[in-house]
Amino acid sequence: MAVRDILKMGDSRLLRVALPVLKFDTDELHGLITDLLDTMAAANGAGLAAPQIGVDLQVVIFGTGELISRYPDAPVVPRTVLINPVITPLDDAEETDWEGCLSVPGLRAKVPRWARIRYSGVDQYGDPIDRTVDGFHARVVQHECDHLIGKLYPMRVRDFSKFGFTEVLFPGLEAPLDD
Ligand code: NI
Repeated sequence: MAVRDILKMGDSRLLRVALPVLKFDTDELHGLITDLLDTMAAANGAGLAAPQIGVDLQVVIFGTGELISRYPDAPVVPRTVLINPVITPLDDAEETDWEGCLSVPGLRAKVPRWARIRYSGVDQYGDPIDRTVDGFHARVVQHECDHLIGKLYPMRVRDFSKFGFTEVLFPGLEAPLDD
C-alpha cells in the first residue's frame, strides 16, 4: 500500500510502550502490515516494528524467508508477522553480536541478547505462533520486540568501544542488515 517514513532515534514516539492489538483480521490491521512490509522492503531491512512508523501497537514483522546476499552468513528466518508477543529466555546464556536499526541509520554496535528464547504471540488472523529459536533468529525477535517497549538497541549496549559508524567499522564491506 505505502512506504511510510521511518522515525529516527530522538523521536519520543519510539519510547512508548505499545498497546496490544485487540481485533484481528481487520482491514485496518491488514493495511498496517502491508505498510510495514512495503517499508521494510524499501529500506532493505531484516525487520520492522509498528512504532517505527509511528503506530503505537504491538506489531512487528521480521525475516525474509530466503538467504540475503548482503548478509550471507545469516540463517534463513521465516517471514513472520508477530503481534502481542511474549519472549521467554530458555536459560541465562547470552550472545553478543552486531546490530543496526533503521531508526538509528549509519551506526552499528555489538549488543548482548539472550542466546535461546521461546516466543509466542499471534499473527494478523489471531492464529497462535509459538517458537523456540536461537542465534540470529532469536536476536532479530528480541530487537524487534524491544521496539514495543520503547527500547532501541543503543540502550542495550554495554561495551561502547563496539559502537560506531558502519562505514568506519566495516570499511569497504556491504553493511549488514538494519532492523
Ligand atoms: Ni530496530
